[in-house]
Amino acid sequence: MKVLLIGSGGREHALAWKISQSPLLTKLYAAPGNAGISQHAECISIAADDIEGLLKFAAREKIDLTVVGPEVPLVAGIWDQFHEIGLKVFGPTRDTAFIEGSKAFSKDLMTKYGIPTAAYEVFTSPKEAKHYVIEADMPIVIKADGLAAGKGVVICDNAKDAVATITQIMEEKIFGEAGSKVVIEKKLEGEELSVLVLTDGKKIIPLASARDHKRAYDHDRGPNTGGMGAFSPSFKIPEQQIGDMIDTTVRPMVDGLAQDRMFYRGVLYAGLMMTKEGPFVLEYNCRFGDPETEVILPRMKSDLLPVMMQIAQGKLTTETLDWHDKSCITIVMASGGYPGSYQKGFPIHGLESVKSTEDVFVFHAGTASNEQKQIVTAGGRVLAITALGENLKAAHDRAYQAISNIHFEGGFCRRDIGHKAIEVLK
Ligand code: AMP
Ligand code: GLY
Repeated sequence: MKVLLIGSGGREHALAWKISQSPLLTKLYAAPGNAGISQHAECISIAADDIEGLLKFAAREKIDLTVVGPEVPLVAGIWDQFHEIGLKVFGPTRDTAFIEGSKAFSKDLMTKYGIPTAAYEVFTSPKEAKHYVIEADMPIVIKADGLAAGKGVVICDNAKDAVATITQIMEEKIFGEAGSKVVIEKKLEGEELSVLVLTDGKKIIPLASARDHKRAYDHDRGPNTGGMGAFSPSFKIPEQQIGDMIDTTVRPMVDGLAQDRMFYRGVLYAGLMMTKEGPFVLEYNCRFGDPETEVILPRMKSDLLPVMMQIAQGKLTTETLDWHDKSCITIVMASGGYPGSYQKGFPIHGLESVKSTEDVFVFHAGTASNEQKQIVTAGGRVLAITALGENLKAAHDRAYQAISNIHFEGGFCRRDIGHKAIEVLK
């Protein structure tokens, strides 16, 4: 099978690593890929959002399956354009990808299908939005409707901040057109959990559970990021209970869409808040999570490639996936300044030292090779240092041991990934 993988982050490196182990694979291309992905795939310099370029390439190379990592090409309709000329894509159609592409659309569907989610209002007029927040009970959460690279959500504790946030999002357009519309909702309290499933629009296969750490600094301080680390399985929640959660948060969405003749095919990711009243959906994503994928795939024993192909063909025939009992953790090393502005191009030292360490995987998130063939930093999140262990503590110690050998100028990571869970496990 000839496969084209789209994207260039840690999630795509984990996918490339996993796909490259499939006996069904004959050739793997990545567009555009990164220095780590190039260990498993031939990287071609076509941007992830250049759908026309990707389409031409896939047609010319007779690609059997295109696997899409990031949300942008999915929301732009890559599935539909490839489908028109008979090319298979693992990922949802444009219509169903809007579950991530528009928060208002997603919230309206949740209401329609009876899925628990925070009470909300949608505004297209900044004036009306401001009137609303002046009267609203605090705290509230203001969300740009469209895609904003995971940065479009602001929690406000008082009316003054809320009004200023509306000015920034809707008038100054800090997230561009994504902020023409906003969703304003009640702030929920609880622990967060990511639930990911594979589905063909009818059948659902759960992936291993994972927890993400979204804030930039230790003890959940600092700005929100794409994710600074994750671990799997998630603590405190037995697998049976995760099954129940899927029944109330994921199943009604897949079934509701199917009843509305919109079959959701691909990975469906539900970001949940475990409130006192049970799990509430914060958001859906139409793709694998990053860095959740970096901890889910090392635990997967089954071959993922045939499952993705079945979904791309519209019929999921696999019944279940097999998993390792081990725990997995990933710790993101980021560029100084991330998630704000940061410099690129710093050489990364120490990668060789961990290359052959058992059960340690260094997934590259933002790296490139420079002219001297050195691996250098090329993004905000640079590496996802991942380790498996008999339990979470063992995985944690192994990952931080690996990190102590890796350096680049300005690089930082959180020192507390998984700590709360390890406390609980004690
Ligand atoms: P989203 O992109 O909607 O998942 O939001 C990003 C992050 O903002 C979530 O992972 C939560 O940490 C936080 N968040 C979003 N909505 C809410 C809410 N209603 N209550 C509390 N936190 C929220
Ligand atoms: N880790 C959060 C996300 O992938 O959206």
